This record gives sequence, structure tokens and C-alpha cells, in this order.
Amino acid sequence: MDVVIRTIEPPEVEACSRAASLAFSQPFDKERFEAGLDTVEPDRTLAAWEGATVVATAGASTFRLSVPGGHLGAAGVRGVGVVPTHRRRGLLTGLMRRQLDDVRGRGEPLACLWASESRIYRRFGYGLAVLGLGWEATRATADFVPGIPVHLPVRLADDGEIRTAMTEVHERLWRTRPGMVDRSPAWVDYRLRRRGDLSHALVDGPSGVEAYASYQVSPGWGVGGPEHELSVAEALAVTPEAEGTIWRFLLDTDLVRTVRAGFRPSDEPLAWMLADTQALRRRVTDALWVRLVDIELALSGRRYPADVQMVLEVSDAFCPWNEGRWLVEGGPDGARCTRTTKQPHLSLDTADLAATFLGGVGVGPLVRAGRITERAPGAAAHAHRALAWDPPPWAVTFF
Ligand SMILES: CC(C)(COP(=O)(O)OP(=O)(O)OC[C@H]1O[C@@H](n2cnc3c(N)ncnc32)[C@H](O)[C@@H]1OP(=O)(O)O)[C@@H](O)C(=O)NCCC(=O)NCCS
Repeated sequence: MDVVIRTIEPPEVEACSRAASLAFSQPFDKERFEAGLDTVEPDRTLAAWEGATVVATAGASTFRLSVPGGHLGAAGVRGVGVVPTHRRRGLLTGLMRRQLDDVRGRGEPLACLWASESRIYRRFGYGLAVLGLGWEATRATADFVPGIPVHLPVRLADDGEIRTAMTEVHERLWRTRPGMVDRSPAWVDYRLRRRGDLSHALVDGPSGVEAYASYQVSPGWGVGGPEHELSVAEALAVTPEAEGTIWRFLLDTDLVRTVRAGFRPSDEPLAWMLADTQALRRRVTDALWVRLVDIELALSGRRYPADVQMVLEVSDAFCPWNEGRWLVEGGPDGARCTRTTKQPHLSLDTADLAATFLGGVGVGPLVRAGRITERAPGAAAHAHRALAWDPPPWAVTFF
């Protein structure tokens, strides 16, 4: 039977979600599905139909992604799956084709996603642009360097207060750090409802609520006494003192033996606040993948830490409209990206350019890995400095 790909109507959302659950080998969770319903955009959800059955699906949410020095429109690709009986016959490729053409048609310069497996998306031009950090700490060894400010007032938050903090503190961070998608009330609601068992704490500072944490304590009693585990779902802060305070609060919770956090920023400040440099047992993880759907809009839509002038020769087999030589000129106040016939400084694939785009993955390592080719002496070092950004990107919201 033929398979037809089309966008869905609102009543068909559940069929897509069921197909995605099947693809992920997970039981369909009605409660979780309903909690996320308001975040689904049916007109951006593609389904591959075989008769009346959904055999593959790929959705997208409309976001503003923070990039170095600003924000750009980005499709947040999600809910991608092909049912086990229909794999490796090009359905994902067909969905990606339709989706990227649609993103381009909407004028969004970027697409981004969280990948289940790292081998899937490079062929469609996505590069791994944000790395994350997972860590575990033993409470007994997690003492702070003397003098680190950690003494602002902390209070537990009710539902309304945590919603406000998850919107407003997040928004302040989103204005300064690349890699974050903006948060509508529907997204805040979804984050809270999909894990309804969380506790929340707020830190009050001179400018209002300056940090918060959502966390869960799982009680455990061993032969030697309490062995509770504290798992941090989200902890955001906008000042160093609020950051220190929220971590001190979490790491000082009585009865807790182990504290865990995942998808933290690669430059986790807590690592530098603790006296023992080994106190956080860290693991680097893959976080957000980025696709430059329109290279001209993307490279002219971010800022650069110092003056930059470079010619990039880009190959892009899946989105050939991006192929060719691009002159990037700009600096801290803005930039332009235009087509050129000048000699290139670097030759690279669109996926590797995307990896460097948010300033977290360096040109230098990609040149040394043989992925980016330097065409003029010193060009790699110049591009490395030009594309880097402080702070590095952090993907806070899983979508
Ligand atoms: C990943 C998935 C969507 C791929 O769908 P698909 O329809 O089989 O993909 P396609 O047939 O279009 O494959 C395109 C190419 O990608 C390769 N590929 C696809 N999935 C891959 C994977 N998981 N690992 C490595 N390569 C993969 C295929 O081999 C094929 O390569 P080829 O062109 O050289 O032959 C599907 O296997 C799936 O649903 N997996 C479980 C859920 C999941 O991981 N979803 C992604 C969420 S981010």
C-alpha cells in the first residue's frame, strides 16, 4: 500500500503520538500526552499514512532560539519516529525533506532538535551545537570554597510562584545565553505537569526572584542510616550569589547522600564553587543539534565577539540553496552574510558550520578532527575566535 505524507488535523494528534510511542518502544501514556497537548502544533506535525494508519511522524514547535547576541526563529523538531515495521525505506528522509522545505518557507533560519541517537541527523545537515553536563555529588564532600557568596534567603514555592519563576528567571537567562528556546505558558505547564512530584525552592535577591530549583527527593534507608537521593530537574540562576545560594540549599539537604543533575551547562559554575575539584563526578552529554536552514539569515542574525571577515565555502547536499561561498563580515554590533566569489578561508560541511554556530563547539577542534579544511594560513584560528561565545550555549528545555 502507498504511504502518503501530509500535515495532520487536530483530532489526529493522538494517532501521531501513539505512532511515536510505538517507534520509541514505549507504552502510550495518556496522561502525559494530555499534559503536552497544548504544545503540539498540528499544522507543523507531519504524518506518513498507510491507509488510515500512521506509520511515521515528525512534528515541530515554533520557537525563538537564543543565539550569540540575539534570537532567531527556529523550528524545534520533535516527536520523530517510524514504526518498527516500516524502517529503512526512506520515510524519515521523506519527512525531513517536507519539514525543512516548510521551515524554509516560513522564513525560519534555524531548526533544532534533541536526538535519540547521534547517527541519525548529520545526513540532514544537523550538527551537534550544544553539549551538556550530567553530574553526581556526594553531599558529605560538597563543601564550598570559603568566601563564595551563598547566603541569600531561600523559600519553598507554591505552584503559582514556581510558574512565574520558570517564566521570568528563564527569560532573563534566555536574553544572555545562547542555546535556549523561549517558553510560553503552555511549555511551563507541560514541564510541571509531566513531572508532578517535584518540590520547588526560590532564592530572593535584590532584583526579585534570582534563582529557583525544581527537584525531587527519593527517600532511602540503608543499614548505616539515611541514603536519600536528590535529583535536580531544573535549577536556573541569574546572579552568582543566587546561583551559589540555590546550590548550597540543595547540597545541604539533610538525610540526602547523593545529589544528581542532568543537562546542565558545559561551563557549570558550581564546579568552580566547590572546594574539592572532584566533588562533581561529571559526564559530558550530547544536547541540542542545530540545522542552518538559511545560512544567510543565520550568519547575519548572530553577533561575533570581535571583528570578523571570512569566506566560507559550504557544502550542503540536503539543502542545496545554502551551497557556495559566503562572506561573513561583522562584530559585536551586528553582521552581514552575503554570497561572494572570493577565495575561501575555510571549506566545510553545513553540519559542521551548524555545530559551531552557537559558539559552544570550536572551529579549532573540528579542523584538527579533519572535518573543516583551512584554505588560508591563520584562517582557522580567526574563525575559532570569531564564532566562539561566552557564555557557551545551554539547552535547558527538552522538547
Ligand atoms: C530513526 C528513525 C526515525 C529512522 O527512520 P527511517 O525511516 O528508518 O530512516 P530512513 O529510512 O529515512 O533512513 C535514512 C538513512 O539514515 C540511516 N539511519 C536511520 N536511522 C538510523 C539510526 N538510528 N542509526 C544509524 N543510521 C540510521 C539509514 O540507514 C539510512 O541510511 P542510507 O540512506 O545510507 O541507507 C527510526 O529508526 C525510528 O523511529 N527509530 C526509533 C525512534 C527514534 O529514535 N526517533 C528519532 C527521535 S530524535
